[in-house]
Amino acid sequence: MRRRLFSTFRHLEHDNPLGLPRSGTVPAWRGRKGPPEKRKIRDVNKVIAVSSAKGGVGKSTIAVNLALALARRGIRTGILDTDIFGPSIPTLLNLSGEPRLDGKNCLIPLTNYGLKSMSMGYLLPPPPADAKHLTSDPTSPLMDTTPITWRGLMVTKAMHQLLHSVSWGPLDALILDLPPGTGDVQLTIGQEIIVDGAVIVSTPQDIALRDAVRGFGMFERMGVPVLGMVRNMAFFACPHCGEQTRIFSRGDVGRGHAHEHENGGVVAACKRLGVEFLGDIPLDARVCQDADSGIPTVVAEEGDEHSVRRNAFMSVAEKVARKVGLDWK
Ligand SMILES: Nc1ncnc2c1ncn2[C@@H]1O[C@H](COP(=O)(O)OP(=O)(O)OP(=O)(O)O)[C@@H](O)[C@H]1O
Ligand SMILES: [Mg+2]
Repeated sequence: MRRRLFSTFRHLEHDNPLGLPRSGTVPAWRGRKGPPEKRKIRDVNKVIAVSSAKGGVGKSTIAVNLALALARRGIRTGILDTDIFGPSIPTLLNLSGEPRLDGKNCLIPLTNYGLKSMSMGYLLPPPPADAKHLTSDPTSPLMDTTPITWRGLMVTKAMHQLLHSVSWGPLDALILDLPPGTGDVQLTIGQEIIVDGAVIVSTPQDIALRDAVRGFGMFERMGVPVLGMVRNMAFFACPHCGEQTRIFSRGDVGRGHAHEHENGGVVAACKRLGVEFLGDIPLDARVCQDADSGIPTVVAEEGDEHSVRRNAFMSVAEKVARKVGLDWK
């Protein structure tokens, strides 16, 4: 009898057999001095996070194009790559090299296309001296394969440096390119920085949307206003005939006219959550090629006012800018 009772209590002790709490409440800060005060990033007016709990949905591509769209409209903009383990911004902006320090020991951002940037990718130690032949070119057989294997304190320290020790100069807007997930980096940002708004990226598939909705919950708990959701890879525009096919869409995937399932899809999720649907970005090989070649679409197709791809990014950027009170001209 005692044994049975004991085993029943043991069962009730945890939310689940692994003892992991089921509710995803943001853990309290365990430091001696209580929770850190949220503060503004020095010299930055508005901070906008681009996020999704799912990996590979196009966060970095959208973040860099949004930032460039703002910069193209005369808004002084920077982009901070907070993806410590998989920084993308150096490739997307075709930038490399170690940043210099200013008189206050703050990192001076690297700039391309009028956009200031800072990334862990610029700060990683160079390969050892006896490995001079290594390269960061992923197509080369001599590519540097050294992984970043930090955890815990090292990650927090790196994040602090990126958040608090960059000399942005006066900026109207700073875009944060977040890593996938709802982990340490997101928590550190939510606890320490005043974020003016979050843009959530999803693709049309249910599996991505589910993670996008999880991301919404995280920002809500952190007290960060969600500006809305972007649906990336929304449709494929045939480069030959121009027909638009909603490859990943739920519901009617018929030719040209796709209607979202009444209870599913990104637009419906936005309605349910009470956030704005910020727009569609097409699935297009040129968006990927532009990214890989370090000339993001907003810059690559600057002269083409009919570019569906560029206009899609510009339209999302305009909505985001207006929502946080930036002066979009
Ligand atoms: N609309 C698009 N059309 C075509 N390719 C795209 C599009 N959006 C993103 N891609 C490509 O998909 C890949 C993943 O994009 P990206 O790196 O921006 O995703 P991510 O969400 O930042 O990934 P991670 O979670 O690893 O940070 C890249 O090769 C990118 O060029
Ligand atoms: Mg990324």
